[in-house]
Amino acid sequence: MAATTSTLRARVHATLRHSDNSQSGRRWRAFHLFALGSGLIAVAVSSVASLPEAAARALAVVITLVAAVFLVEYALRLWSAPESPRYGGLSEGRARLRWAFSATGLIGLLAIVPAFAITVRAVGAESNIASIFCILWILKLGVHAPAMGTLARVISNERATLSSVLIVFVIVLVAAATATHFFERDSQPELFGNLPSSLWWAVVTLTTTGYGDVVPHTVGGRMVGSVVMVSGIVVLALMTGILATGFAEEERRREYLRVWDQVVKVPMFTELGTVTLSEIVSKLRVRHYPARFVVVRRDEAGDSMFFISEGEVEVRLPREPVRLGQGGFFGEMALLDRLPRSATIVTTQPTTLLVLYASDFYEIAAHIPSLVAAVEKEARRRRQENEAAGALTGGMT
Ligand code: CMP
Repeated sequence: MAATTSTLRARVHATLRHSDNSQSGRRWRAFHLFALGSGLIAVAVSSVASLPEAAARALAVVITLVAAVFLVEYALRLWSAPESPRYGGLSEGRARLRWAFSATGLIGLLAIVPAFAITVRAVGAESNIASIFCILWILKLGVHAPAMGTLARVISNERATLSSVLIVFVIVLVAAATATHFFERDSQPELFGNLPSSLWWAVVTLTTTGYGDVVPHTVGGRMVGSVVMVSGIVVLALMTGILATGFAEEERRREYLRVWDQVVKVPMFTELGTVTLSEIVSKLRVRHYPARFVVVRRDEAGDSMFFISEGEVEVRLPREPVRLGQGGFFGEMALLDRLPRSATIVTTQPTTLLVLYASDFYEIAAHIPSLVAAVEKEARRRRQENEAAGALTGGMT
C-alpha cells in the first residue's frame, strides 16, 4: 500500500513539475495556463462597475473555480514535495516545510489566498480582498517562463558590471539634481527649491521619460539638462548591452551542456577522448524530432549531417528501408560527394539528433581525421551496397 502511495505521489510530482515533458505534464501545463488566463481575464473584467448582474455572477463563478484549481494544486504539490530530488534525505515533514518556504511554494500560497477570501464572502462577511489577491495570480505566470531562471542567473553573473553602471547612474543623478537646484532655485523655487524636488526632475530626465512637468528655465539648468539626457541614453545602452551579452553567454553555456549530454550517448564521439570531444561539442546542435518526421528528403541539397543520440530513423532506399538507431549517423554522403541527398530519412519514434553543418564538418576533417575516416569508410560501404542493390533491381527489370 505504501509503495502504491509512493508511486502515485511520484507520478503526481512528476506531472506537476513545470519542466516535465511527458504527455500528462504537457497537458497539465496547458490546463494550468488556461485556468490562469481565464482567472486573470475574469478578475480584470469583473472590476468594471457597469457590468450586468448576470455577467458579474458568471465571472464570480469562473474566479471561484480557478481559485479552487489552485487550492487543489497547492495541496497536491505540498503532498508530493518529498518526491523532489532537491529534498532527498529529509523527512517528509521537513521536505514539505522546505517546499512551502521556496519561491514556488510562497507564490502557490499567495495564489490560494483568493480561495479563502471568496469563502469568507460566501459565508456573508463583507470583503473585496478576493479581487485584489487574484491579481497575485499573475506571479504564477512566471513558472511558465523558463527564461525567468536564466534572467536571474544573468543578473547574478553580471552583478559586478551592473552595479558599476548603477553607481555611475546614481552619481550622475545626484550631481545633476544638485547642479539644477543651484541654477534654478531662484527662478523656480517651488520646483527646484530643495534637493528632493530636483532629484525628481533628474530621475525623469535621466531615464529619458521626460514628463515635461518640471522644466529648467535658466541657461545653466538647460545645459545640465542636456548632459543628463545624453548620459541617460548612454547608461541605458550600457545596461542593455551588459544584459544582452550576459544572456548570449548563458545561452551558449546551456547549449554546451545540452549538447554534451547527447554527445556522450554516441560511442563514435566518446572514443575520441575528452579534449577532442569538447572541441566537437561546440560544433554540434541538438534537435528533437517527433515520430514520422521527414529529416532529409531525397534529391534536396544537403548542408549538414546527423548523429543519432536517441531514437531511430528509417532510410527509405529503393529496394528496402534500412533502420539506423542510437549511435548511428546519416547525411554524410551529400557532404562528402557534394551531391543531392541520396535517400529520404524519416524518424520512426521521437528522436534526438546532433546536427553538424557542412562548414564545421570540413573544419573537423582537418582537426579530427580519425572521425572523418570512420564516416568515409561507412559512406563507402553504403555507396557499394546501394550500387549493388541498384544493379540487382536494374537486372530484374
Ligand atoms: P545523404 O545522401 O546525404 O542523405 C541520405 C542519407 O541516407 C545518406 O546521406 C546516407 O547517410 C544514408 N544512406 C544512404 N544509403 C544508405 C544505406 N545503404 N544504408 C544506410 N544509410 C544509407
